[in-house]
Amino acid sequence: MADLWPGLGGPKISYISPPPSETWRRTWPRSIAILGSTGSIGRSALAVIEKYADRFEVVGLSCARDVERLAEQAERFRPPCLAVLDAAVAEELRRLLPQGYQPRILEGAEGYAGLASLPQAGTVLSAQSGGAGLAGTLAAALAGKVICLANKESLVLAGDLVRAICRRTQAAVLPVDSEHNAIFQCLAGRGQEAANLLITASGGPFFGQNRKTLAGVTAEQAMRHPTWRMGTKISIDSATLMNKALEIAEAFHLYGVPSSRIRVLIHPQSVVHSLVEFDDGSLLAQMGAPDMRGALANCLLWPLNKPSGVPALDLARPGQLTFHEADTEAFPALALARQALSRRGGLCVVMNAANEAAVELFLRGAIGFLDIPLLIDAAMREHGAAHPGAMGRPFCPPLAAESLSELKDEVGALAARITRLDRHSRDMVCQLAEKDGSK
Ligand SMILES: NC(=O)c1ccc[n+]([C@@H]2O[C@H](COP(=O)([O-])OP(=O)(O)OC[C@H]3O[C@@H](n4cnc5c(N)ncnc54)[C@H](OP(=O)(O)O)[C@@H]3O)[C@@H](O)[C@H]2O)c1
Repeated sequence: MADLWPGLGGPKISYISPPPSETWRRTWPRSIAILGSTGSIGRSALAVIEKYADRFEVVGLSCARDVERLAEQAERFRPPCLAVLDAAVAEELRRLLPQGYQPRILEGAEGYAGLASLPQAGTVLSAQSGGAGLAGTLAAALAGKVICLANKESLVLAGDLVRAICRRTQAAVLPVDSEHNAIFQCLAGRGQEAANLLITASGGPFFGQNRKTLAGVTAEQAMRHPTWRMGTKISIDSATLMNKALEIAEAFHLYGVPSSRIRVLIHPQSVVHSLVEFDDGSLLAQMGAPDMRGALANCLLWPLNKPSGVPALDLARPGQLTFHEADTEAFPALALARQALSRRGGLCVVMNAANEAAVELFLRGAIGFLDIPLLIDAAMREHGAAHPGAMGRPFCPPLAAESLSELKDEVGALAARITRLDRHSRDMVCQLAEKDGSK
């Protein structure tokens, strides 16, 4: 099985984690805890799990506030443990659960971490949205789980840390994000000769538009993604290309390659999910219909290849596949990611937090579409100017802890440091936006 792992230890790809153990691979049903089960990814994952009901046992589900949906899911899958945002939400959930079914209900960040490290869960799907997903991913990594990772922000914020923990605990990461899953499939059994990673982007709803038009677009227009149906935040990120910026950082950490070897190609049909360019100049692509059940089935059932419920791709339907360079003037997000990755010093944390804060402001109608990258850029500049000594150095230093309990403490302290910078960056964006609005 290790033969299918990307990189095969060669110098050109340094994958973030070791492969899952032989025991995990052979043990069925797989017991799984899902962080963010009520979201778009969580629901698609449950559709795959339902299709292979004899291969999975759901031991944990979670939401933030959507208790009605969580109660429905819990009634169907009967996991022994659930997790929600706080005590008030937990109370509401208790009222909705059927009589006679009394799962443990965990609360808050600690509760999500508890769900991610349940002793009976061999597999954890990390599918909460935004930086809030980091705590669960870190807890799953510390507990040595096989992590099906959809929450790209975990790697953007703390990719070095996730890598270091996986090395220590033998946790394994399987990438759910469709582009990174495509690259994972292209690299199966090879990798040393991989020259470049080519990440495709649909271009979002505003592909081909110039800055003048973009200045006036609304949140409703930005939400209308042409090919994928996704959660709110990732849909706005797709419209600004910030999603692709986050994905450059995600690929950087997953595959251990510099951002100069990660190229973005606009591909409006969303059929080629991504490609790898090899040393001999040949390209290997992974294609499929744009439906996350494909990548999810690949991870949840790995290394088995089974129908996911997504109809096979008929290449005659799109008729033609086109590829374009990204318009970096209208969509400056990609340059921000490259800058954050090369200058380091916490700039990826600032970029992600500033984006989340700016997206919230945009959704509330407080700022325009083009203000999103402007505010991220301004926050990154301000952070760089305030911490010149931190630039060029990783935000999380190498782990020093020897025992598992020391490791947990050290990771906890680093996560708290990330959270502080995250909060500070959000505040910075709100202040910058206010200053701009009052001009
Ligand atoms: N959707 C896609 O096609 C896609 C593709 C690739 C990668 N991803 C990544 O997968 C992750 C999830 O995306 P999504 O589109 O599924 O998001 P989504 O539809 O917004 O769902 C997010 C899930 O996380 C929960 N959640 C939200 N805020 C939370 C918080 N503060 N604390 C704990 N839980 C919270 C939500 O609970 P409630 O339902 O109660 O709000 C929901 O269960 C993101 O990192 C995204 O970038 C998504």
